[in-house]
Amino acid sequence: MDARRIHYLRAMGVTPWISRTAAEPEPAPLTADGPEPVPLTRRAGSGSTSQDPLALDGMDLDALRASVAGCRRCPLHESRTQTVFGVGAAAADLLIVGEAPGAEEDRRGEPFVGRAGQLLDAMLAAVKQTRTTAYIANVLKCRPPNNRDPSAEEAACCAPYLQRQIELIQPRVILAVGRVAAHRLLEEDLPLGRMRGRLHTYGAQRIPLVVTYHPAYLLRRPSEKAKVWQDLLLAMSVFDGAGQ
Ligand code: URA
Repeated sequence: MDARRIHYLRAMGVTPWISRTAAEPEPAPLTADGPEPVPLTRRAGSGSTSQDPLALDGMDLDALRASVAGCRRCPLHESRTQTVFGVGAAAADLLIVGEAPGAEEDRRGEPFVGRAGQLLDAMLAAVKQTRTTAYIANVLKCRPPNNRDPSAEEAACCAPYLQRQIELIQPRVILAVGRVAAHRLLEEDLPLGRMRGRLHTYGAQRIPLVVTYHPAYLLRRPSEKAKVWQDLLLAMSVFDGAGQ
């Protein structure tokens, strides 16, 4: 394990296991729960473009970004400074999905740039990813006032945008950070602790999906960072055997 990775793991609050020999240690074995994919029972219209009221089907990422920038589908457009579409590689292997922009993101137009974002960067670095090699997006593209939870109506209005982003990026694995993203993508409302630690799938393409804690939660509960490290390893295990 190289020094930079050890540094980032320590920054995440995870004590890395370092081999006493010169050999590179293998990642910890995954739990007995994983990584068997869990089939997702889909509801009509989710994870596919079978319903496309916004005619997003033909749009590429740039056109989609422009469409989001002009969106007035829900009242959040009245209070936003700007929309926060997403950042990263257009063909990223790893897609991170968070909840919604906060104050800093609303000001800067980029997801996860506040304190939680710094922790997310450290999490990504620990698995040799960055915000330019991965892709980061949110369930909502506009900031809910006072950082309240997105309402079901707001999430439903924004859903086609995230759905089209996923179709265009075609990630090899999705990491849903936090309850809101996990519930939205999996259409389940289990407690987060019961969704993490195993592989789910998203959409008709059955893209592997891993659920983990939101970095903002980790800032309040640093003791949970080791679990997030396990979740990251589970997500990255999707790449195993394919040259990653
Ligand atoms: N929290 C999120 O879920 N997304 C952001 O972009 C910032 C904070």
